[in-house]
Amino acid sequence: MKNKVLVTREVFDETLDYLSQHFEVTSNQANARYTVDDLVARLQAADAAVISTSERIDEALLSRVPNLRAVCSASVGYNHIDLEACTRHGVMATNTPGVLTESVADMSICITLATLRRLGEGERMLRAGRWQGTHLKELLGYDLNHATVGIAGFGRIGQAIAKRLRGFDTTTLYTSRNRADAAAEQAAKARYVSKDELLRESDVIILILPYTPETHYFIGRAELDKMKPSAVLINMARGGIVDDTALAEALKARRIWAAGLDVYENEPRVNPALMELDNVVLSPHIASATGTTRRAMTMTAARNCVAALTTGNPPNLLNPEVKGRTKPA
Ligand code: 8YV
Repeated sequence: MKNKVLVTREVFDETLDYLSQHFEVTSNQANARYTVDDLVARLQAADAAVISTSERIDEALLSRVPNLRAVCSASVGYNHIDLEACTRHGVMATNTPGVLTESVADMSICITLATLRRLGEGERMLRAGRWQGTHLKELLGYDLNHATVGIAGFGRIGQAIAKRLRGFDTTTLYTSRNRADAAAEQAAKARYVSKDELLRESDVIILILPYTPETHYFIGRAELDKMKPSAVLINMARGGIVDDTALAEALKARRIWAAGLDVYENEPRVNPALMELDNVVLSPHIASATGTTRRAMTMTAARNCVAALTTGNPPNLLNPEVKGRTKPA
């Protein structure tokens, strides 16, 4: 009998075709948002699932789906998966590192420029018929060229952002849990600094660090107070890394100049206080959303799923401790 795989979100035909060569596949092609009970009911009939960041895989869920053997997320971030609970339940968990690095780095530059140059505000003005022709003092922004940019998080994506910034002749600082090796610093032309120095010195701060209990509210009121009044904060990482309420207050009071956000606490809801502000650019978690990259992400998740159920050795296994505890086929 073929293994059963649930795909929790609409995916590309080639991903379904590939999975269907190996498994009996049920896919949410209507892209309905499952309640926890819906998800549990479907997972009770599945050996593995290809998921997105919208599905929370935790102890409460895992204790109700005893047959599940693997969860394969089409994302690099995995804060929606409790890895220790997966290991306890003998469930392999995988992600998709690498394939989205360049797209997310591109989008980080895109939101940074849009924020510095007030692109959203200008477009809203134009669409509302309020543009009266060139005014030499209207919609003045800040330059990215020659700015001091601080990157918080210096993994693959942080380094790819730094590489792009070389073209803008920025002074690039970075902070991260572990200092990168000299070759990586040299390639990125980035200088390692403390979090405090990064907050105080940067004109632009780009967040691209993983969300963990330690990075919860990495940027809160105290950190915002350390930033320059002209500073721009860009969150490409995860909601919860920034205290969105504190950010909205700082933006409103002009304690910092502007922000660009791709991610939010409590997605898909956005803090209403942010919605009212003109000095914030808001995008709906689309940093990896190019056709090429999303295809690569879902295919990588599917390949992990096939490997998990056939060899027990998926390439992007996040919880290697699970080996020896996995459930029999
Ligand atoms: C995903 C992301 O596109 O990979 C991640 O961690 O946040 C995004 O690239 C999105 O979360 C879909 O799962």
